[in-house]
Amino acid sequence: MITVVGSLNMDLVTRVDRFPKKGETLQGTAFATVFGGKGANQAVAASRLGSQVELVGRIGEDEFGHSYHSYLKKQGVFVSHVKPVTHLSTGTASITVSEDDNSIVIVKGANEEVTPSAVKQATKVIQACNVLMVQLEIPIEAVESAMEIAKKADAIIILNPAPFQPIPSHWWQLVDYVTPNEHEAEELRESPEFKSSYEEKLIVTEGSKGASFMNQGQRQLIPAPFVKVEDTTGAGDTFNGALATGLDRGLDVKEAIQRAVVAASFSVTAFGAQGGMPTESELEVFLEAVQK
Ligand code: RIB
Ligand code: NA
Repeated sequence: MITVVGSLNMDLVTRVDRFPKKGETLQGTAFATVFGGKGANQAVAASRLGSQVELVGRIGEDEFGHSYHSYLKKQGVFVSHVKPVTHLSTGTASITVSEDDNSIVIVKGANEEVTPSAVKQATKVIQACNVLMVQLEIPIEAVESAMEIAKKADAIIILNPAPFQPIPSHWWQLVDYVTPNEHEAEELRESPEFKSSYEEKLIVTEGSKGASFMNQGQRQLIPAPFVKVEDTTGAGDTFNGALATGLDRGLDVKEAIQRAVVAASFSVTAFGAQGGMPTESELEVFLEAVQK
């Protein structure tokens, strides 16, 4: 079983041919409201791949919150710890996408209420998991509380350090894997408390190149298959969700990464953070196709 403690956002996505200049009003070409937020994205990715997933999070008592809650249930994600708060709105991400660029403005809203006490209420589902997955879109103290509970229960802990902020040095003893992208990896390595021994724990997602990990003292790249890109939003989340599924099933880390790289590659062929996240049987077909 996998437990994700993290964020839920409604993604408000506007497509443009180019970005507006300061003060300019511009015509966009399309608009869509899709489910997002790194915590929920990773939970959905793992659930589609057949894992049992509990999500711990907070939503507003509003339209976005209600529709997100019922959508997650339909996706098969366990949501008894996704609770509404009365005084804050559901988190949003206003995303502007042009062909070669994107920009995101996040309003945390109810995600701010994923506090250590919210985590404490979910102690049982954290103790029960094989794999705990956390990101940095909720208060950092809550991330730490969740990891402490999971560590005592001997769970595998995956930390996706996104959106980037420096992580406290004592966290390195709590985590099994840290999954930055290339930029986040640079920031981690440049921080004063980083030790070379932590490299062992870094699984670095490298966009269209694939992902790398330490294999017998050497960083090894697991290459990604070539795909036609429609939308890269959520590719990292798909990778993390799939990685958690593999580790939950007892695969070795290399095999779990191989599957995660392929899952993430296929997720970028469809619009939206969760659009294109493969099911287990879709992933099997993709894996066979790329192994040929
Ligand atoms: O990782 C992608 C996610 O980041 C989007 O769904 C958006 O909500 C932002 O949180
Ligand atoms: Na997608």
